[in-house]
Amino acid sequence: MDIAGRNALVTGGAHRVGKAITLALARAGADVFIHYGRSATEAEATAEEVRALGRSAALGSANLTDPTVAGDLIDAATVALGPISILINSASGFPTDTLQDADLNSWRSTQDLSLTTPVFLTQAFADALPQGLGGAVVNVTDVKTATPYRTHFSYIVAKGGLDEFTKAAAVALAPEIRVNAVALGVILPPPGEDDAYAQRLADQIPMRRPGGTDPVAAAAVALVQNDFVTGETIRVDGGQHLV
Ligand SMILES: NC(=O)c1ccc[n+]([C@@H]2O[C@H](COP(=O)([O-])OP(=O)(O)OC[C@H]3O[C@@H](n4cnc5c(N)ncnc54)[C@H](OP(=O)(O)O)[C@@H]3O)[C@@H](O)[C@H]2O)c1
Repeated sequence: MDIAGRNALVTGGAHRVGKAITLALARAGADVFIHYGRSATEAEATAEEVRALGRSAALGSANLTDPTVAGDLIDAATVALGPISILINSASGFPTDTLQDADLNSWRSTQDLSLTTPVFLTQAFADALPQGLGGAVVNVTDVKTATPYRTHFSYIVAKGGLDEFTKAAAVALAPEIRVNAVALGVILPPPGEDDAYAQRLADQIPMRRPGGTDPVAAAAVALVQNDFVTGETIRVDGGQHLV
């Protein structure tokens, strides 16, 4: 798929990983609708960076713990830019809980944000895709679904669901739409933690450093571009899954 001239929607596109994917798509020639939750200032700054690359950018906020916003978000992006043929499901939380202390409300909210909304955004995206255009979805998941955290229980179950959804959606939506994923390891410190925190985690992995966002963006762009890859997950984890 040639990205040039296409329109993309990136959830959580204002900063960090979502921003890197937004800018990589813009560099490849896409116009981008930047979804944000609370980071309006960062979203506007990222939109300016997209425009500086000579592409169009639009932005809109939605609380993605409410999956019923999915249709409206696809509509808003379509009104702003035209038909959306690339969807990146990057927004997520990283709450701390365990199986022992998980409570129903936060469990539901985590599943909604990190699994149910990506599902219904993908459904709305597929419904809105003009016949013959072809589309690509990339879900942003976590390499730790293979060796789950004890202390981010609700989160890792949601991301495990996203892994399975990636495969199920690839089957359901082929051949018009390809659905793939990037599974991230230590990329950036979590919000509120410093670089030393990320380096301590990275000391345990073969590449011995945090990856930063550029390798994630490169993998996402490659998955969008490759017309014969669907239902695939690229681990961007510095070899973490091997140790
Ligand atoms: N960073 C890593 O090392 C790492 C590792 C493994 C997996 N990942 C995955 O990579 C993706 C991006 O990670 P990140 O570290 O860049 O994420 P992050 O800094 O935690 O940001 C989360 C993003 O999700 C959005 N978001 C959170 N709650 C929302 C809500 N209720 N409604 C709407 N938007 C909401 C935020 O938007 P606002 O700021 O606008 O509110 C933000 O853009 C996530 O899916 C994450 O699970 C990251």
